[in-house]
Amino acid sequence: MRKKIIAANWKMNMTVNEAKSFLDTFVRELGDESRAEVVVIPPFTALAEVSNRLTDVQNVKLGAQNLHWEKSGAFTGEVSAAMLRELFVRYVVVGHSERRTLFGETDATVNKKARAALDATLKPIVCIGETLAQRDANQVEQVLEMQLKGSLAGFSAEELQQMVLAYEPVWAIGTGRTASPEQAQEAQAFIRKTIATIADPATADKIRIQYGGSVKADNASALMSQPDIDGALVGGASLDPRGFAEIVKATCKLQD
Ligand code: PGA
Repeated sequence: MRKKIIAANWKMNMTVNEAKSFLDTFVRELGDESRAEVVVIPPFTALAEVSNRLTDVQNVKLGAQNLHWEKSGAFTGEVSAAMLRELFVRYVVVGHSERRTLFGETDATVNKKARAALDATLKPIVCIGETLAQRDANQVEQVLEMQLKGSLAGFSAEELQQMVLAYEPVWAIGTGRTASPEQAQEAQAFIRKTIATIADPATADKIRIQYGGSVKADNASALMSQPDIDGALVGGASLDPRGFAEIVKATCKLQD
């Protein structure tokens, strides 16, 4: 059985002080719950402090929101995989729709970032998802297949098994408009089927696929109980430590 993975994508929110106070509450609320894997993904500026605070916390892992594919050099404003790894970052988001739309990320750059991450033993969380216009034009499967093939080109089956995919329909991100559990399940079953053709059925069976887009405490159970939804990438609702803990707990209940 795939262990569910719930990640808090804080985006451009949380100063270091805010992150500290979030963790104080969240770690207490979470207790020793470990039936789901939990990842906190702060902005770069709070990574070191969050990493320090998590030293003695076994059931919360650290993630980063982005990385550059080069190892070092003249890339002002960018951060390398090694810099993240040194802070005990375990996961890194690549290809988030905000990065794709606002910062020109493409399947080709997502592919390079995922490669750099894996080479540094960081696990990429590769985000894909269609826009509303693409959904309305019945292009969901076509878009997902193209993003998967482009983003995941050149990876072996073993490498793919290290990755997490996140299905995030663009129209559901930050809009309060969640995909229905059936819509998300349908898309995610298609993603898994596509992985079986890109790699093999065993890899498709192992790879975890998160859903992201307006996940909240009150819709988490219905989404997370779908057979091809293996966790959530949570934005807005992950900024409240109690609310985020509730999402994790609702998911953990399903693991029994
Ligand atoms: P949201 O964001 O939960 O605020 O919709 C999800 C995401 O962008 O990862």
